[in-house]
Amino acid sequence: MAHVSDLIASDIEQYLKQHERKSLLRFITCGSVDDGKSTVIGRLLYESKMLFEDQLAAIENDSKKWGTQGGDIDFALLVDGLAAEREQGITIDVAYRFFSTDRRKFIVADTPGHEQYTRNMITGASTADVAVILIDARKGVLTQTRRHSYLVSLIGIRKVVLAINKLDLVDYSQEVFNRINEEYREFAKQIGLDDITSIPLSGLKGDNMLERSPKTPWYQGPTLMGFLETCEIDETRLQKEAFRLPVQWVNRPNLDFRGFCGVITSGAIKPGDRIRAQPSGKESKVARIVTLNGDLPEAVAGQSVTLTLEDEIDISRGDVISLAESPAEVADQFEATIVWMTDEPMLPGRPYLLKIGTQTVTATVTEPKYKVNVNTMEHLAAKKLDLNEIGVVNLALDRPIAFDPYKMNRDTGGFILINRLTNNTVGAGMLHFALRRAHNIHMQPVDVNKQARASAKGQRPGVVWLTGLSGAGKSTIANIVERKLHAMGRHTYLLDGDNVRHGLNKDLGFTEADRVENIRRVSEVSRLMVDAGLIVITAFISPFKSERAMARQLMQDGEFVEVHVDTPLAVAEDRDVKGLYKKARRGEIANFTGISSPYEEPDAPELRVNTTTCSAEEAADVVIARIRELGLID
Ligand code: ADX
Repeated sequence: MAHVSDLIASDIEQYLKQHERKSLLRFITCGSVDDGKSTVIGRLLYESKMLFEDQLAAIENDSKKWGTQGGDIDFALLVDGLAAEREQGITIDVAYRFFSTDRRKFIVADTPGHEQYTRNMITGASTADVAVILIDARKGVLTQTRRHSYLVSLIGIRKVVLAINKLDLVDYSQEVFNRINEEYREFAKQIGLDDITSIPLSGLKGDNMLERSPKTPWYQGPTLMGFLETCEIDETRLQKEAFRLPVQWVNRPNLDFRGFCGVITSGAIKPGDRIRAQPSGKESKVARIVTLNGDLPEAVAGQSVTLTLEDEIDISRGDVISLAESPAEVADQFEATIVWMTDEPMLPGRPYLLKIGTQTVTATVTEPKYKVNVNTMEHLAAKKLDLNEIGVVNLALDRPIAFDPYKMNRDTGGFILINRLTNNTVGAGMLHFALRRAHNIHMQPVDVNKQARASAKGQRPGVVWLTGLSGAGKSTIANIVERKLHAMGRHTYLLDGDNVRHGLNKDLGFTEADRVENIRRVSEVSRLMVDAGLIVITAFISPFKSERAMARQLMQDGEFVEVHVDTPLAVAEDRDVKGLYKKARRGEIANFTGISSPYEEPDAPELRVNTTTCSAEEAADVVIARIRELGLID
């Protein structure tokens, strides 16, 4: 049926050759729900004639069943692939589609328009050369349009097509087109986008998709396909950047071979080149570039390779191999932009996993600097980031990594943030620069260490971490536990919520952000006390799993004993020793745990004590017995 498929049939060799020589354009489409994005992409796919008869028949069939076009072909169905999606009436996840014309090959990352799907847009956009931003001519420039454009600029895409769609619904009005075009350009200037091509479109009717439409005689610019086929792209851009190979794995089949495998994200490399492994900084020379098809004299960005080196140096997964003459930077604190992509807010002090290249480390936001109002580009003060918010923050990692500023290299400067408990991607970001203060602070070695201090006290240090609702009995039990340990000659310290909040943490309230910071500080203090050789007992509600996990991670194996003081809300509320539940019920205390703020129960604490079936004294005995069993005391 189509021009290209004829060639496939008659001369496959010739077809493939033609195909190989064509340049490749990667683009993304972004728009709000109902902008007609799927219809536009569907038509591009359809008109490029890369569809086969059976696919077409299926679409025609589906159009009758599902279509919104009254029996005509519904091009959106080409794109909204899965049946499940169709039934929901929305497109989910990023879909990469390949198509080609006589002049060019294309990969389009189609990203859904729902507000909460910003994540997909970022994923789809990171390799794109062009962004096609869809606008419904009837609605004009929306907050969504601005947010997407800002993301496009942050991601580093410089070329934008403003596809002013559904022009048929505004009578192909030049005035509407001009107004939207001007408003958009005004905004785009502020965010550094200046390579903009606005096209009046109707994806549905096909106007200015492939052919200039007679309905818009006032428009002299390119058609959408015309633009995509001819716009300039620099396909060798990545090859010209500094060489980076994030190591995916170390291949060591036998003692004589050790190869470092991964995809070259930028630059080029030859045997004999001097390289630097980062973050360690050790140097060597490339011995061989091994691939499945034999050794190479040179390898460039995009290729999967295995490098062998002349010297035995220690390199592991997550390290970056750079050319020694143009290495990456190494740091553990940064300024960065973060785009938050999940309902649960980003809270400073909370640990997240940060994945950059092939490396995964633990990261916390130490200081949110500001968030950006995407309509006005104003900087607003921010203590946290909510869904879809974009902010600039300071980040601290648990160890140094090799990186480049995102502006220099999208692969070694871009990262995602992952919730450690659910493994969901919760944010994405771009590194700006390393913080100087990180350069000038080094850990000082000390002669008297934890072991020396602990053995002077004749004990094993550790933390007994009591968690549970307010009024569960934590403080009472903790107090008895300390008294008993003290009587046994142990060196202890009790950190209690109400007490610590009178001193060290008197600046903190009970918002989520403040509770995270409360527990972060308490965890750090506990660590210092454990380092001093003490047995620490803590009594804090500590309502969130993340922060309890952080406290645990700060200690060594066996040093952290989590005790869930498991008192049902009804019982704690009934006791109401401090009268706080009554106040909370009357609405006089905001964010009260169990009532207007969540408590996340531990999944696998070392001990769970049920205070409805035993007294505080008995509960304390159970705690002592458990820490004895775990070897903290004998
Ligand atoms: S935590 O959530 O940050 O771990 P923490 O244990 O330090 O809380 O403090 C809890 C104590 O503060 C409670 O026992 C109660 O006496 C008091 N309190 C005051 N306001 C609240 C509130 N909104 N939610 C819970 N406890 C509160």
